[in-house]
Amino acid sequence: MKAVYLVKYGKSNTAFEIREVDTPEVSDDQVLIKVEAFGINFADVMARLGLYKGAPPLPALLGYEVVGHVEKFGSNVQNIKVGDRVSAMTHFGGYAEYAVAQKEVACVIPESMSAGTAVALATQYTTAYFLSHNMANIQEGDKVLVHAAAGGVGTALVQMALHKKCLVFGTCSSSDKIDYLRKNGVHHPINYLEKDFVSEIRTILGTGGLDVIFDPVGGLSVRKGYKLLGAGGRLVSYGVSSMNRTKSILGKIRVLAQFGIYHPLQFLSNSRGMIGVNMLKIGEDNPEKVAIAMKAVIKLAQNGIIKPFVGGEFKVAQMAEAHEYLESRKSMGKIVVKW
Ligand SMILES: NC(=O)c1ccc[n+]([C@@H]2O[C@H](COP(=O)([O-])OP(=O)(O)OC[C@H]3O[C@@H](n4cnc5c(N)ncnc54)[C@H](OP(=O)(O)O)[C@@H]3O)[C@@H](O)[C@H]2O)c1
Repeated sequence: MKAVYLVKYGKSNTAFEIREVDTPEVSDDQVLIKVEAFGINFADVMARLGLYKGAPPLPALLGYEVVGHVEKFGSNVQNIKVGDRVSAMTHFGGYAEYAVAQKEVACVIPESMSAGTAVALATQYTTAYFLSHNMANIQEGDKVLVHAAAGGVGTALVQMALHKKCLVFGTCSSSDKIDYLRKNGVHHPINYLEKDFVSEIRTILGTGGLDVIFDPVGGLSVRKGYKLLGAGGRLVSYGVSSMNRTKSILGKIRVLAQFGIYHPLQFLSNSRGMIGVNMLKIGEDNPEKVAIAMKAVIKLAQNGIIKPFVGGEFKVAQMAEAHEYLESRKSMGKIVVKW
């Protein structure tokens, strides 16, 4: 089969190589999928830049999600037939013509679902569901701030918060994205390059604080956000995209220092807290929780409650462009790559 390998860290135009390799074997609990399309996530960009510790060593086969048809499955797999169309999470290995997935996270979907929607649901929407339902437990009326609200996970978080009837603040970095956030129903879209998000939200809120903040940016964004929380507030830290601005060790240390230093007594006396989430870790320790979240988002999508937006469709030969687009901060919603 053909597979797109990351062979060199750095710029996307020299990073990838299409290689001919053996089709993977399935274990008893796995499903083999003939991949029709796979998704790209910001974590893949971090991996390409050599900034993602959890990624496999070079030459690396990245890819967290695929959509395609079941070709084969192991002896413990039930409720799936050869030929079923599935959306599936892959623990790497998605950038290929064939990929394996654990049976719990290979979910049957209709032929009518677009490939972009199917891959958006697998990682970005499942992550957003887990962050908002399992970790932050958003409630009706909560005042919720979503950073990078026009991105893949951001779009999903906005839709989930609106579904729960929260008051939604969203940050982004361009006027096109502000329009996109407005169209998506964000009550208070903020271009943080033009306005300081803290003073903007303070002005809107008056005396109260935020109930929930979803932060994939890290560093200063976390430190500033924490001060906006009211009593009972929780900040969910789930990424460090700001780390990709700097290549030097000193720069990285600066980003880490910018998070700030916290003591549990502060959380106790102010009655607000922080939660860190790494879905790969959750998947390793509690795969059934990820599976429940994934099934929930597929159902929400089939009921029309959530609607993934596909902001970029590329062919495999355009892999470099697809990565560059996601890195450029211009992309909105999901980026999908088709065979
Ligand atoms: N913890 C987990 O398990 C988990 C799982 C999935 C995703 N994530 C994290 O969630 C975040 C979003 O992932 P995604 O795939 O949905 O990507 P995405 O949001 O579609 O794209 C990344 C966005 O981050 C924003 N951003 C802020 N600072 C940036 C910087 N210095 N460089 C580049 N972009 C920056 C940009 O939007 P603006 O310019 O508009 O701010 C950009 O469009 C990433 O940090 C990713 O690592 C974590």
